[in-house]
Amino acid sequence: MKRERILQNISLTSILLLLVSCSKVPDCNLPETVHYNSHVADLIEIHCFKCHAQDVYKEKASRVKIFNYETLREMGESGQLMGSVTHKTGYIAMPYKRESKIDSCTIELLKKWVETGMQK
Ligand code: HEC
Repeated sequence: MKRERILQNISLTSILLLLVSCSKVPDCNLPETVHYNSHVADLIEIHCFKCHAQDVYKEKASRVKIFNYETLREMGESGQLMGSVTHKTGYIAMPYKRESKIDSCTIELLKKWVETGMQK
């Protein structure tokens, strides 16, 4: 490939990357204030209870349990909750052993909940 060609490809790639990153923030219609009881609990039940519910966590998720407000709050404070659902380096990606993440609006909602002090 000629040098100009390579440069052209590089700039095209950066424009594409820019477009992708701009469209990444989804319009999720997040609630004004995010509460555990009205918003977060149901989503955690849908996406995480298969392994983190009280009756199964010991065998499915070993030492880690997420089944109530207190434990989820601790995970939020330590950064583990967001680290795991966003598949951040240094955290164990969740849902466990599935390549895909939970949907981006659920991630945005959890993020807002953590950032606004994890209200009950
Ligand atoms: C298929 C089972 C499964 C599902 C579904 C699942 N987890 Fe897990 N989770 C695990 C297992 C197993 C571990 C312990 C992994 C280890 O310590 O090696 C774990 C550990 C974790 C940890 C600790 C991670 C760390 O870095 O130490 C967090 C936080 C977590 N899960 C959050 C979640 C959340 C939030 C969801 C739902 C979005 C979820 N998990 C869904 C099985 C699961």
